[in-house]
Amino acid sequence: MADSPRQFDFLVLGSGIAGLTFALKVAHAGTVAIITKKSRAESNTNYAQGGIAAVTSEEDSFESHVHDTLTAGGGLCNEAIVRGIVEEGPARIEELIQLGMKFSEREIHGQRELDLGREGGHSKRRILHAKDVTGREIERALLAAIAAHENITVLENHLAIDLITTAKLGQAQANRCAGVYVLNNETGRVSTFSAPRVALATGGCGKVYLYTSNPDIATGDGVAMAYRAGATVANMEFIQFHPTCLYHPEAKSFLISEAVRGEGGDLLNLNGERFMEEVHPLKSLAPRDVVARAIDREMKRSGDDHALLDITHKPARFVMDRFPNIYRTCLGYGIDITKEPIPVVPAAHYQCGGVRVGEYGETDLPGLYAIGEVACTGLHGANRLASNSLLEALVYAHRTAKHMLAHPVEPPVVELPKWQSGSATDPDEMVVVAHNWDELRRLMWDYVGVVRTDKRLKRALARVQNLQEEIQAYYWDFTVTSDLLELRNLATVAKLIVRSALDRRESRGLHYTLDHPKPVESLAQRDTLIRRE
Ligand code: SIN
Repeated sequence: MADSPRQFDFLVLGSGIAGLTFALKVAHAGTVAIITKKSRAESNTNYAQGGIAAVTSEEDSFESHVHDTLTAGGGLCNEAIVRGIVEEGPARIEELIQLGMKFSEREIHGQRELDLGREGGHSKRRILHAKDVTGREIERALLAAIAAHENITVLENHLAIDLITTAKLGQAQANRCAGVYVLNNETGRVSTFSAPRVALATGGCGKVYLYTSNPDIATGDGVAMAYRAGATVANMEFIQFHPTCLYHPEAKSFLISEAVRGEGGDLLNLNGERFMEEVHPLKSLAPRDVVARAIDREMKRSGDDHALLDITHKPARFVMDRFPNIYRTCLGYGIDITKEPIPVVPAAHYQCGGVRVGEYGETDLPGLYAIGEVACTGLHGANRLASNSLLEALVYAHRTAKHMLAHPVEPPVVELPKWQSGSATDPDEMVVVAHNWDELRRLMWDYVGVVRTDKRLKRALARVQNLQEEIQAYYWDFTVTSDLLELRNLATVAKLIVRSALDRRESRGLHYTLDHPKPVESLAQRDTLIRRE
């Protein structure tokens, strides 16, 4: 079932920090539609606890932030991009504050100043935060500004199905992105949205793994759509596993922020031993790849199903004030973090690769841009430094908007066709989708997790291919549903991760394989690129 086409000057897919900031920056120049899968505040950003890394203190320096980012990135960052983002950071932070964002402050010698947190891999305190609910506060501030803008239409419960390219429509003119097919989840109808500029801001793909810190929306939609449309995807093997997600049978995806270790939290095994002492000079505050692997190793060695994070040596008042959300949530599960250590496990957290973009968020498909976690800019390299992602999103939303406004384009002269799909419905469909969803996420966890081998990756590739064939058959024959579309995207992204991991025959940053356990010098600065033929 298809609705009539709708036309805008800018289409934005996703309503996290990247999409909302971008929309606000272009809205004075034309009409903007923000297409978002659930409610407008439901984004990865909303769940960010730690904060935004930026140089705002006199004790810090751009050089130090650049150095920490490059060190974490394991020889794969683009230094010019890193430098540009770090140096542009303070201006973008100031804009966010002007918009109404309230970062936590502290009083020093009678003066109020920003309270800067510390996280793994940072040699200075430089994380701006709003206690431990930074993302929620960012969304509040940005959504208030969006609501006041008459040029912006927010379409909630709308899921983008696929990008529309002029090549797919058989047009003779040079290929470009011309719009998107969108499923309205409330009516089940599909609309054609057209615009000369489409910005992907759809976040990451944590749900491709069984255990993740990400919310349900993180199904890799942007990467999967861009790949299907012919854009280049880069470095998908670098999936960051956050070392400390809450381990509790009833807790779903609840993160214990790295800031807890930044404030002195210690990692222990179940015998109470500090196992990070011999692993890295920064101990529990080592970069995430090091910590996640150490926990994984400790769990495999001992047979334990989790590790512990202990902050009980800090005053209870401090813990409750600095981490109110973590304190309350854990207490809800019967864990008083001021009195007992927190059970934790690593879980998929962040996609360091993504749709490859240039300096202005442009992909190699004209008309298509990517900002935020969905994009691969060159900032993160083989491992993202904690809290650099919100900074990247702010800077790239700004750059992309500025670039588009300086280079206006006419809408393509093509009439975009209505959506056509199978109309069959099948009572069995839900169980097949649910089964394949579970199978995919478990096989990614078991075979493509923190520690990889060639054999496991090849096994994963064969399984993902089977699943993809089954999903494809459903896709063509049956009425589309959001579950089916998300599963299709997850399977596409799973395959991209596995193919990229097989392609990188070395261990670097987040990609660690027992078959090639060391970095290979000649592969530094070599991105893993995949493009659909
Ligand atoms: C955290 O609070 O630990 C997450 C910060 C991040 O992923 O950048």
